[in-house]
Amino acid sequence: MENKISIAPMVDRTDRNFRNFVRMINKDVLLYTEMITAQAILNGDLDYILGFDEVEHPIVLQIAATNPKEAYQAVKIAERYAYDEINLNVGCPSDRVSGNMMGAYLMAFPKEVANIVKAMKDATNKPISIKHRIGIDGKNVLPDTFEQTLLDKYEDMMNFIHITEKAGVNKYIIHARIAILAGLDPKQNRSIPPLRYDEVYRVKKENPNLHIEINGGIKTIEEIDEHLKYVDSVMLGREIYDNPMILTEFGKYYGSEGEINITRKEIIEKMIHYVENMEKKNLRPHLFLMHTHGLFHNVRGSKAWKRAINETNANSGTLRKLLKEM
Ligand SMILES: Cc1cc2nc3c(=O)[nH]c(=O)nc-3n(C[C@H](O)[C@H](O)[C@H](O)COP(=O)(O)O)c2cc1C
Repeated sequence: MENKISIAPMVDRTDRNFRNFVRMINKDVLLYTEMITAQAILNGDLDYILGFDEVEHPIVLQIAATNPKEAYQAVKIAERYAYDEINLNVGCPSDRVSGNMMGAYLMAFPKEVANIVKAMKDATNKPISIKHRIGIDGKNVLPDTFEQTLLDKYEDMMNFIHITEKAGVNKYIIHARIAILAGLDPKQNRSIPPLRYDEVYRVKKENPNLHIEINGGIKTIEEIDEHLKYVDSVMLGREIYDNPMILTEFGKYYGSEGEINITRKEIIEKMIHYVENMEKKNLRPHLFLMHTHGLFHNVRGSKAWKRAINETNANSGTLRKLLKEM
């Protein structure tokens, strides 16, 4: 079945521990890694950076790259791991990233992105997708040679899509706001530029052959259903992290009518099992538990839960105690 919902790549959040937590609640949604730079793959501890568990399938590796050569090498290395899809980040507005000619900055260089995609395709047969913004404001960041640094029109985005599509991309995940490369930090860039969903719908309408996924500010099942009238799939980030129980409402997108029947008690039982395994391997349970603070989002017990699991020495005993008290 085609995947209708994905969990957005989020640095410091969608690591292996958080992805395992998602899988305790929902086995179907499409997962993403955090953004991993090609340089990190070329220089890092591979199992630590790229390793994942069987249950995490289907899972997409998101990379950021500045040039075709390093993209080729990084994807070639990642071939040792069984990712289902590779995604190129052309949406991150961070200075650290655009200063290095990566992320949203690359929207101004669609031919270079096409070359990066071609290199990635030389290294793998897996599908390559792109996550990008509807546009960028590159004032004070793009080189002076640029006639204009504001690339925020629908036509600018379509120029980017048409050029990269020719390199073999069929799926675009579009964060429906522009990125302002100077003056806003990444957090502000996820809330201040207004959402422009209509332009994402228009891409799908005018390019029915492309898989178009919409992203940005989506929080409820009603909103998801509305978007799915116009696009192929929907990506949620912050809402899943803050309110993971929403994952139990996704059954209808995966062939089972209505909800996924799992209770918080059952989830905590799975968590105990996972944390005990971490303890056996001398891994710090905190690295997992810190991602679960939203389990009681907006229900009674939320404060007590957060307080207990945010303790840096919280462990399987803490979970057992909480379970007993429930
Ligand atoms: C903490 C955090 C880290 C993020 N890291 C990445 C990243 O590594 N790669 C990426 O493409 N987007 C990243 N994003 C952006 C999200 O993928 C997503 O596009 C954005 O949060 C909008 O979706 P939402 O409103 O559903 O959260 C990050 C967002 C947050 C909140």
